[in-house]
Amino acid sequence: MSHQTIVVLDFGSQYTQLIARRLRELSVLTEVLPYDITTKALRDREPAGIILSGGPRSMSHPDAPHCDAQIFSLEIPILGICYGMQEMTSALGGTVQAAPNREYGQATVTRSDDSALLSAVPKKTTVWASHGDLIAAAPPGFTVTAVSANAPIAAMEDSERRLHGLLFHPEVAHTEHGLEILRAFAFGVCGCVGDWTMTSFVDETVANIKQQVKQGRVLCGLSGGVDSTVAALLIHRAIGDRLTCVFVDNGLLRLNEATQVEDRFTNRLQLPLVCVDAGALFLKRLDGITDPEQKRKIIGATFIEVFEARAREIGDFDFLAQGTLYPDVIESVSVIGPSVPIKSHHNVGGLPDSMRFELVEPLRQLFKDEVRQVGIEMGVDEEFIWRQPFPGPGLAVRVLGAITAERLELARKADAIVVEEIRRHGWYKRVWQAFAVLLPVQSVGVMGDERTYESTVAVRAVHSRDGMTADWVPLPHELLGTISSRIVNEVKGVNRVVYDISSKPPSTIEWE
Ligand code: XMP
Repeated sequence: MSHQTIVVLDFGSQYTQLIARRLRELSVLTEVLPYDITTKALRDREPAGIILSGGPRSMSHPDAPHCDAQIFSLEIPILGICYGMQEMTSALGGTVQAAPNREYGQATVTRSDDSALLSAVPKKTTVWASHGDLIAAAPPGFTVTAVSANAPIAAMEDSERRLHGLLFHPEVAHTEHGLEILRAFAFGVCGCVGDWTMTSFVDETVANIKQQVKQGRVLCGLSGGVDSTVAALLIHRAIGDRLTCVFVDNGLLRLNEATQVEDRFTNRLQLPLVCVDAGALFLKRLDGITDPEQKRKIIGATFIEVFEARAREIGDFDFLAQGTLYPDVIESVSVIGPSVPIKSHHNVGGLPDSMRFELVEPLRQLFKDEVRQVGIEMGVDEEFIWRQPFPGPGLAVRVLGAITAERLELARKADAIVVEEIRRHGWYKRVWQAFAVLLPVQSVGVMGDERTYESTVAVRAVHSRDGMTADWVPLPHELLGTISSRIVNEVKGVNRVVYDISSKPPSTIEWE
């Protein structure tokens, strides 16, 4: 079944994906495409509406990105947001110019009485603005539908041609009635009915997997995380025991995690599971390695080796399952040059040629929050669904310096205390991640009458939307005090605890 779709053309804004996620919250399937897609390719997709995203460039910059101006003649509703509004203005004969007073952050807009997009919001409303250029004159045919202190045209529309512009960001939570505005565009202007629901997703995906796999067999590498679990559940519902899941225990997991994974998959979710206990091999390969990138590469390569060997033992397969998500599929636009990779990430991507099966990727259309919804729909326990992210290379990137069984054990125990106390004090769901890091630093302490010379643990807790940027969390001192004294008392070999108060950037979330 095909769904009514809104297409977001990406001009490089940090909020582009958020536009898509917000519309999908309203049950409208939304796709992100590069700004320079041809008009023909766009028309062929028959979108119900088009949104032009914001972007980091000024319109006056020689490298400012531009879409094909013919899209404005497609007779499809279009909403331009911020840079997108400026692009629409300049393409249709209005005037964009540098603002004497830039508008960044909260602003108040006052709407007119005859706006299709803004009629559901109060007359005066708070919005999130982020622009250095403004619209000095709207294009012919447009009426001005909102003003703000620094923008004489904060919103405009041409209701006949169904073209709309907003100089602020309705997708951002700081815009008070942003979702109402997006709803008015999708349902009111584009005529969407909200036919993208997670129940319909499950039914359609199961049908698609059946059609793709037919009588074939599928191999799925389970990481213990939410994505691969939900992918495996969908495939299992489609083809039953012709799916085999392989879970590699790399010995770098958190306290009791390997047993929990086994119990969850086998007993609760009843997925056909093969567990490989490879902790000793990983430890041997990591012996004496202190360089973070080398650790990551060794772990990635060892995982592939173990996974491949076990797959061969199990027998013949026709397909390999992968928990690829929509953000990995979006063709990223690089408006201000390529970004530099900071850390090599570990996932099942780099399998050798001999293992290049046809892929089954049931989550390719979904954002992370949608994967969680599907998981809940399919009976996965909420505690697991809301688990904080854990890096593929596991505790190896949280044990700084050389990795030994003893040092892993210290990190594991300290981490368990951090998570337990964070949960007990009601902070688990309020932070993106909270964890312990074992530092390669020893310091002098005193316990009883004894001098000690032992390890240091750093505690880290961050708020983040997507892991790309993060702020350190000012946890209550009492909670930090409890974590600190429990670690020093209960983890033999640690005599000092410090709290990490760095944000990303300039730091990263994990220490390695
Ligand atoms: P950094 O340390 O780069 O982390 O600020 C950003 C987010 O990504 C997680 N992370 C990983 N996740 N494989 C993963 O699946 C990895 O290799 C990996 N490295 C970091 C990290 O926990 C944080 O949420």
